[in-house]
Amino acid sequence: MGAKIIAIGNLKGGTGKSTLAVNLACALGSAAKARAVLVDADSQGTAMEWAARGRLPVAVEAMPFEPEANGDGAWLKALNGLAAQNDFVVVDLPPHLGTSIVLALVAADLFVVPVTPSGADIKATTKAIDLLRQARGVRGNGKPGCLLVPSRVDRRTAAGKEIEAVLHDFGEPVAPAVGQRSAHVDAFTAGEWIGTYAPRTSAHDEIQTLTAIIRRSKA
Ligand SMILES: Nc1ncnc2c1ncn2[C@@H]1O[C@H](COP(=O)(O)OP(=O)(O)O)[C@@H](O)[C@H]1O
Ligand SMILES: [Mg+2]
Repeated sequence: MGAKIIAIGNLKGGTGKSTLAVNLACALGSAAKARAVLVDADSQGTAMEWAARGRLPVAVEAMPFEPEANGDGAWLKALNGLAAQNDFVVVDLPPHLGTSIVLALVAADLFVVPVTPSGADIKATTKAIDLLRQARGVRGNGKPGCLLVPSRVDRRTAAGKEIEAVLHDFGEPVAPAVGQRSAHVDAFTAGEWIGTYAPRTSAHDEIQTLTAIIRRSKA
């Protein structure tokens, strides 16, 4: 059994967090007997919108962190409650530094960080890794594990060719890349995950490969 609470985050919008969160939750939950839930912790509600047509094979819970409504205790309790009832909890985090990313790093087994080949993403990732290491320092048990995911990669660009080398410098495991593929954009419009929208395509293969790594991870 691999990671149970999987937090997907980076401190920047547009890195592919929601796309990865939806597809990983659906892929993890599609395996025989596996129960997965997707937590939308971003008040923008991309994952909720994705799920609105009722075509995703997993439940999606809206859980933006709102200080007045759910103090630290309540949010974490809700997250751990979902963990008790599921094999996998995938958390789609907002793109900014805030309470939900801090609490998610306190609870998560694995922090999955999508990074696109761009200087701005690398800068945000430096901050996200700092935060990860602070959480590890507090927890003292080596958790959460980390997986850097080259995201929206276009190998025709110079940055797209170098992304793995750049990510290895962070000293954390680097996953095989998720390519920039129009099927991911169209799957959102259709309200489906890639395994339903474009099965047995490269886009689906890449998600399956990533899912297998997460399922096997010791984090
Ligand atoms: N692998 C991909 N290939 C093509 N488009 C992608 C890919 N991942 C994300 N996108 C697109 O990029 C935009 C931002 O993605 P999203 O997952 O919402 O990022 P975030 O949650 O980090 O803001 C969306 O329009 C989405 O469809
Ligand atoms: Mg998002």
